[in-house]
Amino acid sequence: MSTPSPPMSLLAELTHRCPLACPYCSNPLELERRTAELDTATWKRVLDEAAALGVLQAHFSGGEPMARSDLVELVAHARSRDLYTNLITSGVMLDATRLQALAEAGLDHVQLSFQDVDEAGAERIGGLRGAQAKKLTAARLVAAEGIPLTLNFVVHRLNVERVPAMITLARELGASRVEIAHTQYYGWGLKNRGALLPTREQLEEATAAVEAARRAYGPTLVIDYVTPDYYADQPKPCMGGWGQRFVNISPSGRVLPCHAAETIPGVIFPNVRDESLSAIWNDAPLFTLFRGTEWMPEPCRSCALKETDWGGCRCQALALTGDAANTDPVCSLSPFHNRVKAAVEEQRENEFLYRRYENIPEFS
Ligand code: SF4
Ligand code: FES
Repeated sequence: MSTPSPPMSLLAELTHRCPLACPYCSNPLELERRTAELDTATWKRVLDEAAALGVLQAHFSGGEPMARSDLVELVAHARSRDLYTNLITSGVMLDATRLQALAEAGLDHVQLSFQDVDEAGAERIGGLRGAQAKKLTAARLVAAEGIPLTLNFVVHRLNVERVPAMITLARELGASRVEIAHTQYYGWGLKNRGALLPTREQLEEATAAVEAARRAYGPTLVIDYVTPDYYADQPKPCMGGWGQRFVNISPSGRVLPCHAAETIPGVIFPNVRDESLSAIWNDAPLFTLFRGTEWMPEPCRSCALKETDWGGCRCQALALTGDAANTDPVCSLSPFHNRVKAAVEEQRENEFLYRRYENIPEFS
């Protein structure tokens, strides 16, 4: 097989530690402990290897990446290798001193997540009292520092009616971009699907609100809108195709084609402690497993769209059909499409199963 194009983006999941407890968390069900996290020197080596491979962007994520005391050092290192740096944060640990240090390290962009515009709604999801005020403060600090800011809202049945207010808040806080992203049902999110999935009417209202805001604000506010797969008949090209554009590195150094890939059974997960990033990207069986179209079963194999959506999402196929090699059941041509339809119809729950971190006692 020829050498694949290099990934455009590296998602560095520095830690799974996080002070929030969102019921839609897409991190794995088994979180990695602080003692298993890569050390600073290894992350720097990985950033060197990423730049040499041709990666353009380094996204520092988690969990909450600000829980790592070496975050500023890693951002500075990435910038020294000409990587565009993005901090994906909840903002609850961001203060003026650390932001100043990050700015001096050359941080290019901040993506700040909000659970809601409404304080009670935000606390119901995040499970952390006082978080909303801290996030608002963090957003104002970022804007005042002149670092480009994106606000991210994960939307679901309980907050979707406030999409117009979310977009207004993004404007007020000086964001240049806002992401309105319907919950994706992986990891912890799948456990809470019954409580989170919006109705079709809610989805249509939210979509209309986004379109109206786009008309009103034009290029002054970019609005990214991610719809819920469950109301679609054609899947999204998850990650831009398996092993084609993105590479994730877990806190302990596992290299993954997407954040949910660790659910896939029967494969060996390569680790940057053992091999170089380029060796893994080019040749590791996990990356070649679903790269391109050779692996596809019917109906994808003979479908005209196979190089458009790349057969959809492998992790969703696994979660809903038990086999990651199946066509994504979101596709109307999938023999399992009825499972997506049934999920939309199923009895809706009202109670959340919260993601809690008591089992990580060393969290601080
Ligand atoms: Fe995409 Fe496969 Fe469905 Fe065609 S059959 S639209 S390639 S998921
Ligand atoms: Fe893994 Fe879509 S989340 S392929």
